[in-house]
Amino acid sequence: MNECMNELVSIKEASQWATAYLGKTVTPANISYLIQYGRITKIQNNGVIKVRKAELIEYYQKQKRSRKEEWKAQLGEDLNWALSFEQYKEAETTKHVHRLHPYKGKFIPQLVEYFLDDHTDAFKKEVYFKPGDIVYDPFSGSGTTIVQACELGIHAIGNDVSAFNAMIGNCKVTQYNLVDVQTEINRISHALQSFLINHKTIEFEHRLLQELHIFNNAHFPTPEYKYKVKHKEIDEPIYGEEKAQEFLPIFYKLVKEYNIQLRQNTEDSFLDKWYSKHIRDEIQCVCDEIKHIKNPDTKNIVSVILSRTIRSCRATTHADLATLKEPVMTTYYCRKHGKLCKPLFSILKWWETYSQDTIQRLVQFDNLRKDTFHVCVTGDSRNIDLITELYKVNPNFAKLVERQKIKGIFSSPPYVGLIDYHEQHAYAYELFGFERKDELEIGPLFKGQGKEARKSYIQSISEVLINAKKYMVDEYDIFLVANDKYNLYPTIAENAGMRIVNQYKRPVLNRTEKDKGVYAEMIFHLKAQ
Ligand SMILES: C[S@@+](CC[C@H](N)C(=O)[O-])C[C@H]1O[C@@H](n2cnc3c(N)ncnc32)[C@H](O)[C@@H]1O
Repeated sequence: MNECMNELVSIKEASQWATAYLGKTVTPANISYLIQYGRITKIQNNGVIKVRKAELIEYYQKQKRSRKEEWKAQLGEDLNWALSFEQYKEAETTKHVHRLHPYKGKFIPQLVEYFLDDHTDAFKKEVYFKPGDIVYDPFSGSGTTIVQACELGIHAIGNDVSAFNAMIGNCKVTQYNLVDVQTEINRISHALQSFLINHKTIEFEHRLLQELHIFNNAHFPTPEYKYKVKHKEIDEPIYGEEKAQEFLPIFYKLVKEYNIQLRQNTEDSFLDKWYSKHIRDEIQCVCDEIKHIKNPDTKNIVSVILSRTIRSCRATTHADLATLKEPVMTTYYCRKHGKLCKPLFSILKWWETYSQDTIQRLVQFDNLRKDTFHVCVTGDSRNIDLITELYKVNPNFAKLVERQKIKGIFSSPPYVGLIDYHEQHAYAYELFGFERKDELEIGPLFKGQGKEARKSYIQSISEVLINAKKYMVDEYDIFLVANDKYNLYPTIAENAGMRIVNQYKRPVLNRTEKDKGVYAEMIFHLKAQ
């Protein structure tokens, strides 16, 4: 190792060096993260925290080499790394309205942009959509396609069988009276604060946090603890559980002192089971206030803020937010943060944070949006009458679709036996009283991946394409994103009277939920036979 490699650098210097080395922004916070998570060693040098440049180089080289090579080894040499969009940070893949509400199974906006915009490259040799065209997404989900179309001046129709998903999509593309939205948020925040004055929950949480802070500093010191776990000097599950048990008497003492009721009296519904008593009461308080909002657009977006809030306040651990296991109402050892954490006991913090965040995101998007039509309708895309549904919500758009016809589709269909789309937002269906249509979902998790499930999947997706053809120009272009591990799409295309003219294998790196496993998806390009 030469002198330069042995060099010690401060966190700021390390971030500047890494930015130049990698050709993308590395912040001091990113370097601190590496120290905190035991990836590189923290060195105290005359009272200043430093790191070894050699360790940084080793870390980044290993990361770069291993990811691409490892993925290719597992998924095949035909993996198209250009479509990984690895240069984008999370803030960009969840830009503006894309992060108004969590949603499991959404694709990243950059992927949509790539196929909808007017660029060409060695890989995308043609422009498929131009401003003024109409794009259709029969499985709109959280509305990524319609949002990106709105940014590009392309009209867009989304459709989803889940009423709540359609609402999320519509909320993203609606243009609001932002003064009204802010006024209503302020009114509801005051109502919630007044509600809280009569309860001791905030004080309880404050005391609990103080106790946790002392306990965590003593038993999970940063960064030494994580370093020891990483180097297997500590058996994390055993140690974590032992300490969690040790803390419980302190927790219960505070629960008693502040008279906190943890569980509700019944577990009959999702809202009964997954929320502590006090959180449930706060949710009801906000929900009742929302009922007084007069402007329907404002009412929808504020409902989405509440829904996002309550999703974050389910009684679960940080690690299990995406896939719930069992309700957790006490402090617990958190593998994500390497210390004891607590569930939430009030929604106030998230309500305020998400309200502010939503307004900011709406303002950002307002500056980007084009004056085209965008709407998501609710229905089963196998047989929905798009024109009739559009007439109900936007007659001018319906007329345009009749006259001009849809140029193409950009969509990611559900896949066989992967996700239950209604169930992932069970709390919102209950709270807002939307009708659930689980039985109309194509390929839900609850029907598995067996032979029958696959057969019915082929049939269903074929029907969706056949139905869509009624509204499309003859020379349509259809792009479907799918992880087709059962090779179902060639049959689907044939059934629908289409041919697959190209397919792209894309590594999926920037998944917004916590699952970061090796994973590729196909983008099938279909045209008329
Ligand atoms: C993979 S997700 C789409 C995600 C979307 N691309 C996004 O970025 O948010 C598939 C969607 O298809 C919807 N879906 C399932 N069956 C359907 C059906 N029969 N008709 C319409 N939509 C359906 C699900 O509710 C789900 O939202």
